[in-house]
Amino acid sequence: MSPKNAKGPVDLEGTAATEAQIAVHWREEGYFYPPAKFIGQANASDPGIFDRFSEKNYPECFNEYADLLSWDQYWHTTLDTSNAPFWKWFVGGKLNASYNCVDRHLAKDRNKPAIIWVPEPEDADTQVITYQELYMRINEFAALLNGFTDLRTGDVATFHMPMVPELPVAMLACARLGIIHSQVFGGFSGAACGGRIADSKSRVLITMDGYYRNGELVDHKVKADEAVARALEEGVVVEKVLVFRRRPGEYASQSPMVPGRDFFVDELMADYRGQIVEPVSMPAEAPLFIMYSSGTTGRPKGCQHSTGGYLAYVTGTSKYYQDIHPEDTYWCAADIGWITGHSYIVYGPLSLGTTSVMYEGLPTYPDAGRPWRIAERLGVTTFHTAPTTIRMLRKLGPDEPAKYNYHFKHMTTVGEPIEPDVWRWYHDVVGKGDAVIVDTWWQTENGGFLGSTLPALHPMKPGSCGPAVIGIFPEILDENGDKVDAGSGIAGNICIRNPWPGIFQTIWGDPDRFVKTYYEKYNKDPKSTDWRDWPYFANDGAMQAGDGYYRILGRVDDVINVSGHRLGTKELESACLMVEEVAEAAAVPVVDQVRGHAVEMYISLKPGVEASPAIQNKVSQMIETEIGKIARPKNVWIVSDMPKTRSGKIMRRVIAGISNFTDVGDITTLANPDVVNDIRHFVQSEKVAHGDEPRELTEEELKAVKSFGHAE
Ligand code: PRX
Repeated sequence: MSPKNAKGPVDLEGTAATEAQIAVHWREEGYFYPPAKFIGQANASDPGIFDRFSEKNYPECFNEYADLLSWDQYWHTTLDTSNAPFWKWFVGGKLNASYNCVDRHLAKDRNKPAIIWVPEPEDADTQVITYQELYMRINEFAALLNGFTDLRTGDVATFHMPMVPELPVAMLACARLGIIHSQVFGGFSGAACGGRIADSKSRVLITMDGYYRNGELVDHKVKADEAVARALEEGVVVEKVLVFRRRPGEYASQSPMVPGRDFFVDELMADYRGQIVEPVSMPAEAPLFIMYSSGTTGRPKGCQHSTGGYLAYVTGTSKYYQDIHPEDTYWCAADIGWITGHSYIVYGPLSLGTTSVMYEGLPTYPDAGRPWRIAERLGVTTFHTAPTTIRMLRKLGPDEPAKYNYHFKHMTTVGEPIEPDVWRWYHDVVGKGDAVIVDTWWQTENGGFLGSTLPALHPMKPGSCGPAVIGIFPEILDENGDKVDAGSGIAGNICIRNPWPGIFQTIWGDPDRFVKTYYEKYNKDPKSTDWRDWPYFANDGAMQAGDGYYRILGRVDDVINVSGHRLGTKELESACLMVEEVAEAAAVPVVDQVRGHAVEMYISLKPGVEASPAIQNKVSQMIETEIGKIARPKNVWIVSDMPKTRSGKIMRRVIAGISNFTDVGDITTLANPDVVNDIRHFVQSEKVAHGDEPRELTEEELKAVKSFGHAE
């Protein structure tokens, strides 16, 4: 350990390394170079772009992104830092996001497909929605919002929608009116949705009766009832629930419509057919939407994104990093319920006037060839997904891509580190050795990419996202705020030294938490209005190689990443504590070959309560209700006591070691070291008896398991 690290804080468990400092020792891979054919057509193939976006041209370099938009009124100040760190971009400018994504393309491309929607049932018809059709649908829904709800500019509407075209229609209808949308991932439970409704104080919920997932028509409206009830418990009354029907005229849910509260959109729509609503010209810094991000402590954070800065940033990065051309057929297979879908299915691609593909269902339904059949049928040129999906498609259909005649020129991976081996399969088999890949690092909070190769100008390196994107100036700092050097082999906390237009404006309703979580740690002077004093602390550990490429190691707090969904340990544990028999709960990740990680719960019971399978079931059920199916634990272990520090904190890293059959580390400083052996014996013999002993972990999996819980 270097002297620098030795100065770091010594935590209660007596280990000087913080999680951020524990590096993943993947072997450094060699470079892959972009194919000449790609370079020839790329939007950014002139290295002069690096100079245009260099620090000497900051912040005005970002005017180039804003100039990709149509403004009603030009801005007078590119970046206003007077209320640091609440940055304001393009101040004085006015624009409308819906106009930019749709209206402005009509003159030239009225009948070009804007969205191609592929329903999950393979025999159902694909819907091609032209820019004109999208324009009409958005206007009609905006007219409905205006006429039937009392939502007005600046209000929040919560959405709990699946992957159907009605979702972008409703988002862009809100944007047209300056109503702030807050889409909650459709797979989340009613209770999780209700908590987010309460936090954002929405009076209107927009949802759908059902949708297809893995071959079944899922009842979704039932979650709306739970959401409204939960919001009410938290003091927020939902006045109207607008229910789209997956098949207009037929109701796919068992849940009754509540008279005076619930309304079918297709029935209401009759009154608004053909109506056109003028887009409201919004100040650049007006909020466009809220997107909740799970944290480890307290409530999920409502990340508030701006209209002008956000739209400029996603449009610019879509153009240069996604290399989107208007004539492309671009498929980002994320869910619009996540930031990736907002930025890179809806706002970025539509702002550039391209064709954006949306798929309703599971990528492996009915088999692992489905994505490649979609790509072949639609002539997809550009493909975007996450490592968890790539791993699943590789596991279930390693040879499927070769059977289909599609051709990608560009592919993206996002959301978690991608193992070099998985990267190579993506490159060689999915991309047929011919597509350029960008590994994009960013966060819900960021609006758009922070780290990636510029596809025609940088070589790719499996396992690394690449350098910072243009206009972003990161640094890796240790716990003392000292710089960690590139090529030192030491990891630290990755920070961005400068504000950028896509950065979120605040945490909805909680500006203090915003400053505390992202800026306090490395702030040089809380009164300063100079951006140089306010590095953005991304809360990710990272390491920079000698060539300047970053390897992102994941969050320094305790988040369990299941299939790319970040689940806060605190959220999982508080759900368990809602089961009345449970006294204490701890959530840990177990390595899972497909999902990355799965959740395991450890609980101890209140005195006098007997352990039983019924309690285990209740716990699983509660997690499913409170958070969603995705979080359902692989195992719930009932233990007599939890390993604890002397100050009473549960040692999650010790339990994680047990669950993963890895070393539990130093336990001599625990208040109750004896309990560790008891738990280990019980849990591991149960696992072995059920054939659940994990294969030997790779070095990086081992590191991940070991580093979990260190931030406590
Ligand atoms: O730890 C980083 C990881 O995912 C976190 C952000 O998650 P979320 O807000 O859900 O946004 C996901 C989509 C933007 C980051 O703090 N992460 C994201 N992309 C990468 C990554 N880790 C490694 N490589 C990436 N490309």
